[in-house]
Amino acid sequence: MFRKMASQTYSLTSRIPLNNGLSMPHIHLGVYLTSGRETSTAVRHALEAGYRAFDSAQMYHNEREVGSTILDYLQKHPDLKRGDIHYTSKLASNSSYDVVRKSIKKSVQECGLGYIDLFLLHSPYGGPKARLDSWKALEDAVDDGEVKVPGVSNYGEKHIAELMESNPRIKPAVNQIEVHPFNTRSKLTQYCKDNDIVVEAYAPLARAYKMKDKTIVALAKKYGCTSAQLLVRWNLQHGHVPLPKSVRKERIIENADISGFVIDEEDMKKMDSLDEYLVTDWDPVDAP
Ligand SMILES: NC(=O)c1ccc[n+]([C@@H]2O[C@H](COP(=O)([O-])OP(=O)(O)OC[C@H]3O[C@@H](n4cnc5c(N)ncnc54)[C@H](OP(=O)(O)O)[C@@H]3O)[C@@H](O)[C@H]2O)c1
Repeated sequence: MFRKMASQTYSLTSRIPLNNGLSMPHIHLGVYLTSGRETSTAVRHALEAGYRAFDSAQMYHNEREVGSTILDYLQKHPDLKRGDIHYTSKLASNSSYDVVRKSIKKSVQECGLGYIDLFLLHSPYGGPKARLDSWKALEDAVDDGEVKVPGVSNYGEKHIAELMESNPRIKPAVNQIEVHPFNTRSKLTQYCKDNDIVVEAYAPLARAYKMKDKTIVALAKKYGCTSAQLLVRWNLQHGHVPLPKSVRKERIIENADISGFVIDEEDMKKMDSLDEYLVTDWDPVDAP
């Protein structure tokens, strides 16, 4: 399995297949905690560097800036089409069917992109009824062309099982969770893979808290890459989709420049063994 993954090439143009027959880029730019102006600059730098996927959310308050920067770029580059870009947003709170339906429409309006490629329920908070009602609203948004691909975020095994047992018309294609060598979530990621759900890895750089970890530094030296590149590559070789965030042009370029090396099996295991369940933000995977 590992060999198959490792022999695959990863780049800003490579894509991962989804369970609904569509696909999406392997690497996305994250835009959490970036202000309006910072967001526009980061998205522009990323587009210029070749990124074609962007991870926003209602809670980030920058859906408008991501969308308008993409539209502006498309206007200046007529060789690129809306369909070449993959845009993600997420529902702030699970709620009743009607509230969620309206909220998704508002997100579509905010970004100005005509539709949202991937829309996620941001967390399992809110309890079983709100989760399942929100999912029904998301299914209908897919039917109405507002969203191409539906998914979830911060869902633990029990939340995914609950959704599957409700016999959804459309299955989730993605679960976006915190994953890096210091929080591997190996049981949950395996469960997602077994259910044909792609794992998107948030905080793939462990929020830069571990750039100087001695194992990471030694391996980065061995592979002639930076700590950030090693961390991004580790997630890709596990079959995940990393969402590295930076507002700096040189780092945006650096974080996606990961095609020149392959981490060998032994070093992948060494990195796996760094797991200390490090949570860099919130941790809703056990929510009731
Ligand atoms: N679904 C969820 O609940 C959830 C939660 C958290 C995050 N996310 C998504 O995942 C994305 C990534 O997660 P994250 O933003 O929390 O953390 P991250 O991508 O792991 O790390 C971002 C931090 O690393 C720094 N950094 C970036 N590139 C670097 C490099 N090459 N060398 C050294 N430092 C570097 C950034 O600073 P600079 O910007 O100054 O470069 C920033 O402080 C988010 O932006 C968001 O889209 C989702």
